[in-house]
Amino acid sequence: MSKALITSFSKKLIAWHQADGRQGLPWQGVRDPYAVWVSEIMLQQTQVATVLERYPRFMKRFPTVKKLAAAPIDDVLAEWAGLGYYSRARNLHACANQVMEQFAGQFPSNPQLLEQLKGIGRSTAGAIAAFAFHERAPILDANVKRILARLFGIEGALQDKVVNDQLWVLAEELLPKDSDDMPVYTQALMDFGATWCTSRKPVCISGIQKCPFTKQCQANLSDQVLQLPRKVLKAKSPEFDCDMVLLRHGDSVLLHKRPDKAIWGGLWSLPESEWRAKALQQSEFSVYTAKELFVMTMPDDHYSAALKKCTTPIRGEQIRHIFTHRRLWMQIWNLSIDDAVKFSSDNLKWVPLRQLGRYGLPQPIKLLLQGLSLARGDDLKN
Ligand code: ADE
Repeated sequence: MSKALITSFSKKLIAWHQADGRQGLPWQGVRDPYAVWVSEIMLQQTQVATVLERYPRFMKRFPTVKKLAAAPIDDVLAEWAGLGYYSRARNLHACANQVMEQFAGQFPSNPQLLEQLKGIGRSTAGAIAAFAFHERAPILDANVKRILARLFGIEGALQDKVVNDQLWVLAEELLPKDSDDMPVYTQALMDFGATWCTSRKPVCISGIQKCPFTKQCQANLSDQVLQLPRKVLKAKSPEFDCDMVLLRHGDSVLLHKRPDKAIWGGLWSLPESEWRAKALQQSEFSVYTAKELFVMTMPDDHYSAALKKCTTPIRGEQIRHIFTHRRLWMQIWNLSIDDAVKFSSDNLKWVPLRQLGRYGLPQPIKLLLQGLSLARGDDLKN
């Protein structure tokens, strides 16, 4: 490893940030650990442009860790709707409660303690400690790993534990000596990875701007920038089918609260039916109507009773949704019913279309139902 690069890195990077980093983001210069934590969690898997819109809204709705901890989880999920990766919202809520109960409402400054909280990994703990408490704690997200693998010519796969441990050691060594430089340094690392040392179009390749590390970067010197870090070939993500029931009564639709552990856990969605799976197993398939098959497969007794009274399902849209690890095809079946049948389960609810905004819904289902609502001329803001 180049000693000269290690000792000069933080100063050069901070100088780069002053000239070319992102300035004026609403979470920059913030020392309230609650605000830093919320922004870091939101930024983990969401684009900065989206966070710029949603972060102030979230902070207005839940201005303190105490308010967030006291809010019903459904309100937090509803506020998170559209941001995806909903386990983040559930973890935020659980973590807020941990901070209230275990730390008397004050976030700890120690990164090891932060890391013990729900939804906070080592890199996020480092970011919170650096931004809010000026702690000399490193971060190592995918962008930082890419920067280090290129600068230091690290050949191994990033998933490899030995390589990962080596990167953490390096990340520690590179930290600025003065702890007051930690916020700007940490932000600079994030910005450099997100805007200059990018995965596909790093500035050294495009030649538009001049990277401050060209003369020291091992990947650049050996013409390996696009080859590092080494990529492990990913298998194509599997496809899944499911059938969903869009059951309407007047201007209401039946929603089902999904189990916490499932995809879209805790969100309100359309009830899912295993109708097709069952139908395929039925040797005497033709003797059942689709409606009878629905009745056979619904989880809730009253639900079955409801479906006995409803119209025959009509095949509706097929919606595709791409997750990180799978692709899901959702076949919608349209039905309606004259009776607003009551259900024994708290997880099934008739929701008027104009009140959809109060519920956390998966994005594709929200779009589908908003389409129905707009067709009825509802004001979607309530
Ligand atoms: N991604 C994660 N944290 C970030 C931050 N503080 N600024 C910009 N992008 C980020």
